[in-house]
Amino acid sequence: MARKLRIGIIGTGGIAHAHMKAYKTFDDVEIVGGADIVPGKARAFLDKWELPDARAYESAEEMIKELEMDGVTVCTYNTQHAGPTVMALNAGLHVQCEKPMSFTLQEGVEMVRAAKKNNRILTIGFQPRYSPLRQHVDRIIQSGAIGKVYYVQSGGGRRTGIPGSTFVQADKAGFGCLGDIGCYSIDECMHAIGYPKPLTVSAVATDYFGKNPKYWRGADTFDVDDFSVAFVRCEGGVTFVFRQAWAMHSDSLGDTLWLGTEGGIKILNGPQYINTPNRVRLFRDLEGSHTDSLIEPIYDFDAYNGAYSKDIFAMKVRDFCDAIRDGRPAPIPGEEILYNQAICDGIYRSSKLGKEVDIVIPEI
Ligand SMILES: NC(=O)c1ccc[n+]([C@@H]2O[C@H](COP(=O)([O-])OP(=O)(O)OC[C@H]3O[C@@H](n4cnc5c(N)ncnc54)[C@H](O)[C@@H]3O)[C@@H](O)[C@H]2O)c1
Repeated sequence: MARKLRIGIIGTGGIAHAHMKAYKTFDDVEIVGGADIVPGKARAFLDKWELPDARAYESAEEMIKELEMDGVTVCTYNTQHAGPTVMALNAGLHVQCEKPMSFTLQEGVEMVRAAKKNNRILTIGFQPRYSPLRQHVDRIIQSGAIGKVYYVQSGGGRRTGIPGSTFVQADKAGFGCLGDIGCYSIDECMHAIGYPKPLTVSAVATDYFGKNPKYWRGADTFDVDDFSVAFVRCEGGVTFVFRQAWAMHSDSLGDTLWLGTEGGIKILNGPQYINTPNRVRLFRDLEGSHTDSLIEPIYDFDAYNGAYSKDIFAMKVRDFCDAIRDGRPAPIPGEEILYNQAICDGIYRSSKLGKEVDIVIPEI
């Protein structure tokens, strides 16, 4: 076997454990270090995963300077994605950074610039990209079966689902619901149609549930969004209507939709549909009649190494490792996710200003 990949983990909180769980199943990867600004936290993390030889640091900078590594996984909270990522890329390391890419668009731009300048992988952790059902929907849309897509709508949302912890602290998470689950919805909707460039956003973000002690135990310190809605104009005549909620008086914000000139795809949302196979429908006209068919998920497929797997989180971590090994481009490229970040950034700006805003993405 070729030498093991040497990986470090920056930020050893909640999600770092999911990354470690995946890494520990790979024979060709060695976790050589962990860094967390909370004293003792990285050591405790590495000990929990029985890695006494891995080095613990209280600063990402120190770990990057001292350890020989191929890459790092950045699992810090959102406002701390850009700093360690840029530092690692400039040190010649490949980076898998958790979602959302960053808090501001400008931070995302700096991350993509650093990846490009150093010719290193910058991949962003949107594991639903590995869902077989999602890939199937993407393939149908990309095959041209529904024609030119002119309207996309996100749905989903939670009736009760404010997560707490650092997710509801603006200095750490930046956004609330938008950065937690909203960015996934944007990725689902826009990746399927090749991420058209967003041009303008008109949006509102609110916090009626998080700030109300009846609905949230930490109401006095809650300072992020728990709901947002946006109207986004994109290049190529695509309109995107975005909705997302951590809490609401409804079982869902409705269906996810792609409307094309030759057909439409609808994903039914709501608790009664989650994890059921009959969620996705394809609408077309055939020989003068309306048709409505079920798109069935294909779960049995070879994920990697010929192994059967449903663990999309492990797949994303594996894909990062394989991309490093094979010299492939980033599996979920920062450059593409910059458009996701631009929409999030636009939603916040528009909501604060109370009017539509232009989206201007600086040259990389
Ligand atoms: N892909 C997923 O399924 C998924 C799930 C949960 C969270 N996330 C993302 O992962 C990120 C972290 O979420 P979490 O729940 O683990 O948060 P967390 O608060 O539990 O952990 C973040 C850790 O980063 C540390 N940290 C902060 N700044 C640092 C820095 N500059 N250098 C080193 N360490 C630093 C903190 O001390 C903390 O231990 C968020 O961006 C979140 O959106 C992704």
